Amino acid sequence: MHRTHTCGELTIKNVGQAVTLSGWMQRSRDLGGMTFIDLRDRYGLTQLVFNMESNASLCEQARSLGREYVLQITGTVAERSNKNNKIATGDIEIIVTYLQILNKAQLPPFTIEDDTDGGDDLRMKYRYLDLRRNVVRNNLQLRHLMAQETRNYLNTLNFIEVETPVLIKSTPEGARDFVVPSRMNEGEFYALPQSPQTFKQLLMVAGFDKYYQLVKCFRDEDLRADRQPEFTQIDCEMSFVEQEDILNTFEGMVKHLFKTVKGVDIATMPHMTYADAMKFYGNDKPDTRFEMKFVELNETVKGKGFKVFDEAELVVGICATGAAEYTRKQLDELTDFVKRPQIGATGLVYARVAADGSIKSSVDKFYNTDDLQKWATAFSAGSGDLILILAGAANKTRKALSELRLEMGSRLGMRDKNKFSCLWIVDFPLLEWNDGDPNLLASLAGRWHAKHHPFTSPKPEDIELLKTNPGEVRANAYDMVINGVEVGGGSIRIHSKELQAQLFEILGFSSDEAQKQFGFLMKAFEFGAPPHGGIAFGFDRLCSLFGGADVIRDFIAFPKNNSGRDVMIDAPSSITDEQLNELSLEVKLPEK
Ligand code: AMO
Repeated sequence: MHRTHTCGELTIKNVGQAVTLSGWMQRSRDLGGMTFIDLRDRYGLTQLVFNMESNASLCEQARSLGREYVLQITGTVAERSNKNNKIATGDIEIIVTYLQILNKAQLPPFTIEDDTDGGDDLRMKYRYLDLRRNVVRNNLQLRHLMAQETRNYLNTLNFIEVETPVLIKSTPEGARDFVVPSRMNEGEFYALPQSPQTFKQLLMVAGFDKYYQLVKCFRDEDLRADRQPEFTQIDCEMSFVEQEDILNTFEGMVKHLFKTVKGVDIATMPHMTYADAMKFYGNDKPDTRFEMKFVELNETVKGKGFKVFDEAELVVGICATGAAEYTRKQLDELTDFVKRPQIGATGLVYARVAADGSIKSSVDKFYNTDDLQKWATAFSAGSGDLILILAGAANKTRKALSELRLEMGSRLGMRDKNKFSCLWIVDFPLLEWNDGDPNLLASLAGRWHAKHHPFTSPKPEDIELLKTNPGEVRANAYDMVINGVEVGGGSIRIHSKELQAQLFEILGFSSDEAQKQFGFLMKAFEFGAPPHGGIAFGFDRLCSLFGGADVIRDFIAFPKNNSGRDVMIDAPSSITDEQLNELSLEVKLPEK
């Protein structure tokens, strides 16, 4: 028998028992007459004691062990004189009588400790060692619990989990596809699903009524902290529902997860229109843990001779409560922040409301005390507050101010990772004009693009606008946002063949192209498609949010790095000429 107990379970109640444990050597301390070893497994750490006086040869053997050796020991549980209340087994230790090395280990390239000395690249290369660390393993245990509770909730509501294929035909979800060549069908390719969108809709045509799946999705897009090329969705679809039914069902799911996994009660999940989110936060995924809403100032500031404001399409600002004491240096930092190329503002105007209520601005030359008082009124700014204003083209300025708002939120400590603010963003535009989005194929530039995806239904009252002003049409689409992260999104679908064909036409598909790409779906709609809708949550994002992290990588067992590489297995990699020949493929790299 390899073990009688795990390394995390022995307590004072076990004192006197003979036990056998197996695990990895975390560290050892040699105190001359005594050697102490911490033995680790998934469940915890147990202190082992070797005594020179009672068993010199065993003690010598213990001293020769290296970090991460795999050991089996037998011994007696004893009460510790020096207790450690930080670990569950901290009251006891094992007086070892037998030691066997099950396997030696090379010195690990970084320390297997909570605070490791390993950099990102090294930890990714030796991911199996990184996974030995408590912090990373705990993240995956959290993920497991979240998956379990998700299934519990949905199963109780009579959803059924159905697996959909991974080798499919391209679905347009707003990114590029990963493709897989087919050996048996020369010159043809499968695409890996960006989501199971069309399949879940077909399951509704099939009468499955309530579907879900924890499913891998693949998107060839620029990577960021909250994006991986291969990620997991909680993908769901329901029949005979309206938007409110979906919102209620999945608000329930997220509340259930918060309650069961974190013990947190989420009281409300307000609905905010996309238009309001853009107007008040400059962002369709506002972090509502703090207010600091945008205040538009065109009426208040124009016509006083300050060219920057007079010529701007939009003058808009925020009020940072209690930040009037900011030093010149801090304000310069903020100015540098908004002028960074990624943010793109040309400058920053500020005004401070002093303790006595007087206001001083960085543009006092143009604005007198009465003018500045009007600014303060517009922002409801009081003593001690700092007003920050940007000006320029409307969309760009809102985007820049949104970044500044988040920066101020962080600086003022208003983005506490243990506080959760959830909301629904509703009434998204159905379409957006693609000016050449680098995440899309170049051939899709200069035409309308579905903001969510092409199966999303327009609001019935806006359908008429499809002919005259497609950009104004609102969709029956919604996102769930938590702490500024888009954790999920979905829509009510089009279930009429005619409306779907009209949409494809607006999106620039000829009827031949639409037939070729989506003929199967439109055909299915001729056989009695029920009204239906659904949503998909980014499961990795939900897990990282619950785990208090911004980066989803540490909640995925074997993630890719920022260049989409798995540096541990060294993928992607080239394949042999023989494989290429079998696939009728030729690799032509651009000349350097
Ligand atoms: P959408 O494209 O909005 O909708 O995706 C749903 C959710 O998936 C997460 N997500 C990602 N997570 C990690 N890495 C990525 N690269 C990534 N891309 C998306 C986000 C997002 O909110 N089929 C539709 C859903 C539907 O309409 O039912 C869809 O996939 O959290």
